[in-house]
Amino acid sequence: MEGTTSEVFRIVTLSSGISRGSNLLAINDYFREKANNFSIEYAVFTSVKAPAIDKCRVSQIPYIVFSARNMELFEKSMLEIIQDKQIHLVVLCGFLKRLSSSFIDSIEIPILNIHPALLPRFGGLGMYGMAVHEAVFASQETHSGATVHLVDDHYDHGRIIAKEEISISGCKSANEIADKVLTVEHMLYPRAIVSYLQATKSVC
Ligand code: GAR
Repeated sequence: MEGTTSEVFRIVTLSSGISRGSNLLAINDYFREKANNFSIEYAVFTSVKAPAIDKCRVSQIPYIVFSARNMELFEKSMLEIIQDKQIHLVVLCGFLKRLSSSFIDSIEIPILNIHPALLPRFGGLGMYGMAVHEAVFASQETHSGATVHLVDDHYDHGRIIAKEEISISGCKSANEIADKVLTVEHMLYPRAIVSYLQATKSVC
């Protein structure tokens, strides 16, 4: 088991109503197999229609739905969960809305996000989903990858805490790049979460 401290770390994930939940599942599997002192306390979705909700049911991940139509109410509900459950970290897993600066400041715990392709050249503001991989493919880059970063006021541009590069020279389409990068994300994200929280704990 990689979680060496006995402290329990409680996490809330945040996903949109169209999330596939592949990162969420990868994180949950990693916690259960390799880091038992980490748990997903709640997977939060912005719609009951999220395809990932069925996966939560199968994998017995507790989930809850908060509409994000009114972001003020959404953030208020998030804050209540974070305080009630004594959450240590918010993990974005395919969340498409922008969180407000006041929310980011007020929760007093970090928020992490994962981004496909290596910042800052690709995947900047306004470039989501397959558009990122299409841009990488069109640029004839030999490498892509993923970055895990802290969410700050600029949302997708916070400090990078972990990154992994992968060769894409054999990829014949943007879809092939997307599949390869997703595999990297599933390996990188859970490990980055565990290392980050353990390091945070060791400096307290
Ligand atoms: C992932 O590819 C992740 O990198 C991306 O959304 C996808 C979510 O997939 N996130 C961003 O682009 C953040 N701006 P998932 O729902 O299968 O985990």
